[in-house]
Amino acid sequence: MESFVFSSPTKIIFGKGTEYQVGEEVKKYSSKVLFCYGGGSIKKSGLYDKVVNSLKEAGVEFIELSGVKPNPRLSLVQEGIKLCRENNIDFILAVGGGSVIDTAKAIAMGAPYDGNVWDFFTGKAKLERALPVGVILTIPATGSEASDATVITNENGWFKVGFHDEMIRPKFAIMNPKLTYTLPAYQTACGVADIMAHVMERYFTNVKNVDLTDRLCEATLKTVINNVRIVLKDPTNYNARAEIMWAGTIAHNGLLGTGRIGDWASHKIEHELSAIYDIAHGAGLAIVFPALMKYVYKHDINRFVQFAVRVWDVDLPYENLEEIALEGIRRMTEFFKEIGLPVTLKEAGISDDRFEEMANKCTNNGNKKIGNFVELGKEDVINIYNLAK
Ligand code: NZQ
Ligand code: ZN
Repeated sequence: MESFVFSSPTKIIFGKGTEYQVGEEVKKYSSKVLFCYGGGSIKKSGLYDKVVNSLKEAGVEFIELSGVKPNPRLSLVQEGIKLCRENNIDFILAVGGGSVIDTAKAIAMGAPYDGNVWDFFTGKAKLERALPVGVILTIPATGSEASDATVITNENGWFKVGFHDEMIRPKFAIMNPKLTYTLPAYQTACGVADIMAHVMERYFTNVKNVDLTDRLCEATLKTVINNVRIVLKDPTNYNARAEIMWAGTIAHNGLLGTGRIGDWASHKIEHELSAIYDIAHGAGLAIVFPALMKYVYKHDINRFVQFAVRVWDVDLPYENLEEIALEGIRRMTEFFKEIGLPVTLKEAGISDDRFEEMANKCTNNGNKKIGNFVELGKEDVINIYNLAK
């Protein structure tokens, strides 16, 4: 096991009716906030009115920034920064999914900074200050509600880039599983693929003697696999929604990666797809993961055998390790199909004419390797896109 520091101080407020506490929570930090949300799902569900009432009751003034799109854009972040500066706002409230939360985090970074917020994403500037962020989560998926990350797309060149820093972990995350009842089946499935990907990025490691976190990872994977099957038949099943929602946070708040070195190649390869083709991040991962696994499994057959046996209940004769490893990958792929996700680029309507461009973008024109389980260069990335065709 590797040495580690683990700190994940986001306060989680979980359960039915918790959204009514938002005003009181926000008030602990500020009396004037930016209320950030997406394309309108919170108005349809009635959550918007509840938030407005709770803020008003707590005496918190707010200015709204709506219209965050999936794969959130830099231009809206810039707009939010301007609103914060013009109105002396010192707290950002995100109500929605990963895209809204990531937008809020980027605004929180940019508002107190004199230069262009994109400087942080390119590594040109180091973050010294960020405004506090609070969250009401409406889709379990990215784990952004308790993660130290934000991922923003710069429309100028369609660069989708992530940034990490402890300073942007949300102060609180309000999570009521009932708020996820309105999710379309496809968004539920995309969220589950993302949760699983966050676990698998950590699970496939070269670090040995990580038995506890191996088993926490396996438990998290099995929990979402079992419960999404329930939710897709019965979307208002509170307990199944709750299991998935909590799993989504656990999968990406750092706990499952303690003592391990994660991989993260799949995320980089996927971000190029969602940057250019604007597909849902989870759907992109359901396409990339099977291809990447087929490309690298021989690097550590035993780890893939463990994954197959413990997560996918593969029960074949043990002398045939390769067969067991491949059966695990096959069952994962079938599972993604079963929950309604694409597993090939073709199924997502993506052709093969921009593989080189995407591989160049995620490997800095072939000058940088990605991934830790197996380091991948530009040609490897192109091979993986080809396997995903
Ligand atoms: O915009 P609205 O109208 O709210 O609709 C959203 C959006 O269309 C809808 N939705 C959300 N909650 C709903 C709902 N519809 C009905 N009922 C509800 N309760 O779902 C759609 C997708 O929302 P989005 O926020 O884009 O989804 P997600 O949470 O999957 O976020 C994806 C983004 O997060 C990034 C991804 O790359 C992508 O850009 N990620 C962020 C990470 C982080 N910050 O730690 C890590 C991840 O690996 C990921 O890269
Ligand atoms: Zn992800």
